Amino acid sequence: MENSDAPHILVLPLPAEGHIKPMFNLSKLLSHRGHKVTFINTHHNHNCFLQFTDIASFQTQFPNLHFASITDGLPQNHPRNGALMNYYPMLISLGPRSLLAKEFRELFLRLVEKNEQWQPPSCIIADGLMSTIVMGIAQEFGVPWIPFRTYSATCTWVTIHMSKLFQEGTLLQNNQENMKNSSTNIPGLGNLLRNCDLPSNSTILMANESINRDFYIQETLAMIQASGLILNTFEELEFSIITKLAAIFPKVYSIGPLHTLYNTIFTTNSSSTHKDGSLRREDKSSITWLDHQKEKSVLYVSFGTVVKLSLEQLLEFWHGLVNSLKPFLWVIQNDLIPKNLPIELEIGTKERGFMIDWVPQEEVLAHPAVGGFLTHSGWNSTLECIIEGKPMLCWPSIADQPVNSRCVSEQWKIGLNMNGTCDRFIVQKMVKDIMENQMKEFMKSAKEIAKKAHDSTKENGPSYHNFENLVKYIGLRKVN
Ligand code: UDX
Repeated sequence: MENSDAPHILVLPLPAEGHIKPMFNLSKLLSHRGHKVTFINTHHNHNCFLQFTDIASFQTQFPNLHFASITDGLPQNHPRNGALMNYYPMLISLGPRSLLAKEFRELFLRLVEKNEQWQPPSCIIADGLMSTIVMGIAQEFGVPWIPFRTYSATCTWVTIHMSKLFQEGTLLQNNQENMKNSSTNIPGLGNLLRNCDLPSNSTILMANESINRDFYIQETLAMIQASGLILNTFEELEFSIITKLAAIFPKVYSIGPLHTLYNTIFTTNSSSTHKDGSLRREDKSSITWLDHQKEKSVLYVSFGTVVKLSLEQLLEFWHGLVNSLKPFLWVIQNDLIPKNLPIELEIGTKERGFMIDWVPQEEVLAHPAVGGFLTHSGWNSTLECIIEGKPMLCWPSIADQPVNSRCVSEQWKIGLNMNGTCDRFIVQKMVKDIMENQMKEFMKSAKEIAKKAHDSTKENGPSYHNFENLVKYIGLRKVN
């Protein structure tokens, strides 16, 4: 029922698929609880979303969720295809003096002045990496701002710790020895991380990428001034680190795995079919292929939305997969597949493989035929696999992925870390380890963690409860 007094939340995701998805799930859940939500995509992403969504039926199901779009500051002909080399200019185009920040401010002012059905915005939920964009306006208008950091609690903690060291001057730029010592001294993590696992080695603190590094540090240090923190994780998984974060932020809302919380709330309360705000066309042919495979026989392979393999890496993985003799379903962009394939790859793939450029991943991971996941260890993918209780073979490369992978292999013991190698013999051996030799033991621990994940999103489970607290908190901050 329409309630014009309901609080109005602006939600601003980082314009990247892996960030939009969890924030969109959260937006639908908040709107379902009666709050009004304006979800702000960039023009480009909004257009993709419109292309693949029946917007009329969406608005019937979610009348409390409206859309707005602003520029991403990139030239119109920029490919924006998520490849890493296109990611950096995007980061540079963000920040408090960006065109995006200017348009966000103009939008906020329009919504404040607009004297229509909805109240002026009373809360901003922005990606943790958009903190400097929203901080000023939140302070100016006295509205709370709650960052949603789409990384794990552990990686969020590491990033905050390292950023503070940089700010204090304790961690000297380009000083490898100094960084090495810091990696083993992150409070609460014992010996979990090695130097090569730090997000520093991948994007944040890398010697020649100071714009990228400065961006992460600036946003992280701004984020810790917010009114709270939203994380897509669950307490049973990262309890001690969530407790540490709770000493920094006034409140930490651990509400994950969000896609499972979404399923819990919507299967019990309504019949929503609008899953994730996807920017791609849905193709179910992978599910049809899986339907014809034996139980737990297939290795699902995906490296997410940003990482792109070189030709050499791709061929090594491909040989390793074919030589393992296990069936595989591989998400790979068509234009990355070379024209003249070695004949053994062609034959092996025809016999046991299926390659496609996009799948409904949650459904694939839940399919009984899938027995393991070769992954880049993006946080969404990690959570989506955890909930299905299946082991992971991790090949992380950038950002938070090395930390996630290390947690999977060393802390939760639900998979193996390839430690940067993709030599065909190692791929072949490790695929066999995950799918055969060590499958039983990994399945056992994966099932245990999956149960905890499910329990946390059940009614009265900690993630469910934290979500209700977030709903209440926002309700109390209503502008009158
Ligand atoms: C990057 C980071 O690595 C991640 O940790 C961060 O939080 C977001 O940005 P990304 O490459 O997008 O991640 O990976 P991931 O976080 O795993 O998200 C990918 C999403 O795309 C998943 O939710 C997955 O279900 C979805 N996906 C992927 C599909 O739906 N279909 C596919 O074919 C491939």
